[in-house]
Amino acid sequence: MADIILGIESSCDDTSAAVIRDGFLLSNVIASQDVHRNFGGVVPELASRAHELNIVPVVSEALSKAGTAASDLTAIAFTRGPGLLGSLLVGTSFAKAMGLALDIPIIEVNHLQGHILAGFVKQEGVPVREPSFPFLCLLVSGGNSQIVKVNDPLHFEILGQTIDDAVGEAFDKCSKMMGLGYPGGPIIDRLAAAGDPGRFSFAKPRVPGLDYSFSGIKTSLLYFVRDRLTEDPQFMENNKEDICASFQKALIDILMDKLVKAARQTGIKEIAIGGGVSANSGLRSRIVQEGEKRGWNTYLPQFKFTTDNAAMIAIAGYYHYLAGERTPLDVAPVSRMSDF
Ligand code: KG4
Repeated sequence: MADIILGIESSCDDTSAAVIRDGFLLSNVIASQDVHRNFGGVVPELASRAHELNIVPVVSEALSKAGTAASDLTAIAFTRGPGLLGSLLVGTSFAKAMGLALDIPIIEVNHLQGHILAGFVKQEGVPVREPSFPFLCLLVSGGNSQIVKVNDPLHFEILGQTIDDAVGEAFDKCSKMMGLGYPGGPIIDRLAAAGDPGRFSFAKPRVPGLDYSFSGIKTSLLYFVRDRLTEDPQFMENNKEDICASFQKALIDILMDKLVKAARQTGIKEIAIGGGVSANSGLRSRIVQEGEKRGWNTYLPQFKFTTDNAAMIAIAGYYHYLAGERTPLDVAPVSRMSDF
């Protein structure tokens, strides 16, 4: 009999549900929350309320697009954390109630593991290139910047991570500060495409080992823009493409320096990226370029699997299910990775 898994993702500002059958994607529905746009960032309380409104229609749509009845489901995988506690509570409570009503198991998933395994979602008629184990995953999102050694679908080690801001946060906060809008990543990416990445330079962090830091470069950009604006009020408006291109290049350089170091130290040449920032066109082409130069096999996720989605939660849940893991109904969501 086929294993049909419903995945539920509600860790931040996207309510998503997906159905997979034996690892093949049948549907993946995402309701993004526009309500935060006016605030220049995600407002946790508004996010939880929007999840409450969205979750029933999103799950219904995912089931109907998959041509699956709730009674056909084998298990329900849900994001337990890390993320916003109120948001996680909505998805976790929904999964528990639905699992209880259908008398099927629920399976907790670590959101970051979902991002790492996004490339393993199979789709009918779409050839998938999966990295072989062990591989390194550069996991870059609004909340995380990590280099992860993935030993198998269920076991991974964090080799390095940010000691302060995540790279997505640097994109978002700097975009806001420059008055360019939210979310900053896609906006800076678009403007950078028309700019000269070599025009300006920004101070690079000096952090030992494989860890990252992105708060210094944020401050460096802040002072840079403020100083230039004092001399020329039109500076930002007239140079935004070059500023974005140079800033984006600086962020990518920081990411790549440590990734190259990690590949060298571990001897691993299977290199994947994941998370919202893996949608960045500059980062994607740089990974491929470095891969060609260094003999890496590189794996880029499809755009639809870069930002938060339930397909990645369903596939991670599927691997846990196959390993015999089940989650008790008294499980509570966790906001931090360290609480897992
Ligand atoms: O993985 P994600 O959807 O949410 C979590 O943080 O879990 O990532 C969102 C982040 C935001 O910081 C957003 O600005 C960034 O991903 N992002 C991008 C791009 N698209 C989304 N950053 C750079 N370039 C992009 N094209």
